[in-house]
Amino acid sequence: MSTALSLLLHDEDATARLAQLLAEVVEPGDILLLSGDLGAGKTTFIKYLALGLGMDPREVTSPTFTIIHEYPGGRIPLVHADLYRLGQGADITETGLEEYMGGDVVTAIEWAEFLPEKPPGNWLDIALSHEDGVRRKAMLEPGCPEWERRLEHMQNLMG
Ligand SMILES: Nc1ncnc2c1ncn2[C@@H]1O[C@H](COP(=O)(O)OP(=O)(O)O)[C@@H](O)[C@H]1O
Ligand SMILES: [Mg+2]
Repeated sequence: MSTALSLLLHDEDATARLAQLLAEVVEPGDILLLSGDLGAGKTTFIKYLALGLGMDPREVTSPTFTIIHEYPGGRIPLVHADLYRLGQGADITETGLEEYMGGDVVTAIEWAEFLPEKPPGNWLDIALSHEDGVRRKAMLEPGCPEWERRLEHMQNLMG
């Protein structure tokens, strides 16, 4: 059984390629749990994910105050959440996010490390961290057999 996949992203283009590759394999119901410090690249990642899904990435902005943004119109609708304002131990029952998760949309959650537990469903954990300058590290951890298979597939594609 495959476990976490660690990738060094040399620059923003590398992040773009990873996010666009993910956009090709995501399915309705998937939940992308993005974690990492301010500036690690969570919103940037989701912009390229949206681009890969066929949306206008300029519409993607951090929903820090509204918690949730919805972007329709792509291959699969994208729901973008940012839990920063909720803080550690984030209680999402008040946000309406649970009604989306696992539905007919892809849910991408920034500051997912604030969730007290992993949500039920087909999640993929994406932990981004600063290396130096424009280099980032991405640690991808599958939360279900589907994501295990897709990560293997992506690894083959990336050589
Ligand atoms: N390899 C990289 N991957 C992602 N973003 C990068 C990278 N190198 C530089 N950046 C820049 O870092 C910043 C990341 O900001 P943002 O995506 O808003 O982070 P977060 O949402 O995690 O706070 C952007 O200005 C982006 O252009
Ligand atoms: Mg952000």
